[in-house]
Amino acid sequence: MSVLVTGGAGYIGSHVVHRLCAAGRAPVVIDSLVTGHRDAVPPGVPFLEADVADRPRVAAFLAEHRVRAVLHFAALSVVGESVTTPRRYYHGNLVASLALLECVLDAGVPVFVLSSTAAVYGLPESTPIPESHPTRPISPYGATKLALEQALAAYHHAYGLRYAALRYFNAAGAEASAGLGERHAPETHLVPLLLSVALGQRPDITVHGTDYDTPDGTCVRDYIHVCDLADAHLAALDHLENGGDSGALNLGTGTGHSVHEVVLAARRVTGHAIPVVYGPRRLGDPSILVASPRLAEERLGFRPRRSDLDEIVRDAWAFHRAPRRP
Ligand SMILES: NC(=O)c1ccc[n+]([C@@H]2O[C@H](COP(=O)([O-])OP(=O)(O)OC[C@H]3O[C@@H](n4cnc5c(N)ncnc54)[C@H](O)[C@@H]3O)[C@@H](O)[C@H]2O)c1
Repeated sequence: MSVLVTGGAGYIGSHVVHRLCAAGRAPVVIDSLVTGHRDAVPPGVPFLEADVADRPRVAAFLAEHRVRAVLHFAALSVVGESVTTPRRYYHGNLVASLALLECVLDAGVPVFVLSSTAAVYGLPESTPIPESHPTRPISPYGATKLALEQALAAYHHAYGLRYAALRYFNAAGAEASAGLGERHAPETHLVPLLLSVALGQRPDITVHGTDYDTPDGTCVRDYIHVCDLADAHLAALDHLENGGDSGALNLGTGTGHSVHEVVLAARRVTGHAIPVVYGPRRLGDPSILVASPRLAEERLGFRPRRSDLDEIVRDAWAFHRAPRRP
């Protein structure tokens, strides 16, 4: 019996595959490689290059590997792009995931874990954000994830599918010793952007907005180490396989760091000056996004262990400065 990881060739999914292998959990991967990297999946892990919307091939793969749980990472996830090309996001994230869920229900797979996001909350009314906070996404990206959460709640109620919708805050860091890290193109995430400046791959980085209602005027986010995210997925699997409650859970640390603090951490870790250019605010960026991590701790016993900001940046730096595989 195995665990299907969709999007297992992507940033977070590949770290989870690595962790599942270490735990002897027999992962199998489906990835279309639209943004992922084939070399991020270990050679011994069964791999199907396919879109999760391809029902015949997905159904055959589920049966062949006797899949008993699905961790669903496969998605497009650039918030700004979802605003300019929403049909790509509604199709790629919502329609494709509903097709995957058809296969999951038809095959009688009992457990499903969705990569959801803090973007389901929209502009928060309070901080830190508990799961009970209203969900009013302000981008098609957040809307597609919320719609999937709603489908899962209905499928749980009607068909008994046990699920967790894990709402990640800002994933960062790397497992450099396994050759794993963040490789998005184009990159939109702060930590790898800062490190690419330190490596001389770009001249500077733009900080969007310095007049937010935060201590230093730059946006505050909750950064969680990708290896902590991986641990949380294993804990969620155990929880659901043992009949635990279904629902949405935040995955964050409960501590925020401003963009300026992350810039300083990157300068400290790399020893590079990392020039910064100050630009205007981006539309729809909330000033503060910090999780209340309480429910995940209560339900899963999950506590981040590697999410100290300097450790996150150090681990990402170890990955970014290492020579790439051919
Ligand atoms: N990175 C973050 O900070 C963050 C925060 C919140 C939520 N998330 C969610 O976590 C998940 C993983 O994010 P990531 O940063 O690892 O992204 P990623 O782009 O690195 O990984 C996504 C993977 O899914 C694959 N994929 C995409 N659409 C597919 C499809 N229809 N069929 C098959 N494969 C497909 C891609 O090729 C890629 O390998 C996403 O669902 C994303 O929305 C990420």
